[in-house]
Amino acid sequence: MYHEARGSEALGFLATKPLVFITTLHATGVVNAGVFGAYTNLSAEHVGAAVCVESHTYANILRQKEFVINVPGADLVKSIAVIADDVPPDKSEVEEAGLTLKPGVSLDTPSIAECAASVEFAFDREVHIGYHGFLIGKALGGWIKEEFRDVDGKIDIFKAAVMKDFKYPRPLYVLPGRIVEG
Ligand SMILES: Cc1cc2nc3c(=O)[nH]c(=O)nc-3n(C[C@H](O)[C@H](O)[C@H](O)COP(=O)(O)O)c2cc1C
Repeated sequence: MYHEARGSEALGFLATKPLVFITTLHATGVVNAGVFGAYTNLSAEHVGAAVCVESHTYANILRQKEFVINVPGADLVKSIAVIADDVPPDKSEVEEAGLTLKPGVSLDTPSIAECAASVEFAFDREVHIGYHGFLIGKALGGWIKEEFRDVDGKIDIFKAAVMKDFKYPRPLYVLPGRIVEG
């Protein structure tokens, strides 16, 4: 079962800013996906991601003015290399990885059904820095699988087994360990 959220409530699904798959649309309608670790929240509604200007993700976001951030659990660790691969625009990394598209809640861009959660964004603006565009989006809503929703309505990062990259570009990832109270 999926829980759907409206607006900035969905930003709780990106708690701890784990490694994500960003889905976008090519001009042909083929769904592109890439792996991204360099992103952060900027306000109660905005998130910015550092996206290489040569990537399909970059061109697609600037053209379509929308993108979806999908949060994979560790069960999808083998998909990371496939999603990060540079495949031609007539092919979808999502299909190559054997994953399933889920229609967008408020956007044309689909999400990835096997992920724990996803958040939909309207492109807001770009800050250009070297080989990366820092692409800022405003959260429109999203979904989370019920079993990964914690008591605060955010993602339970332990149950969802979200990942962070470790010693990139080595294919090593870390999972949340323990909580310490400050
Ligand atoms: C663990 C990991 C993290 C990555 N993080 C980023 C990132 O934050 N920004 C970026 O531009 N590329 C990042 N990449 C590289 C992109 O996923 C890769 O360039 C991909 O081909 C982009 O796909 P696209 O051309 O279909 O958009 C990362 C790759 C991996 C494996």
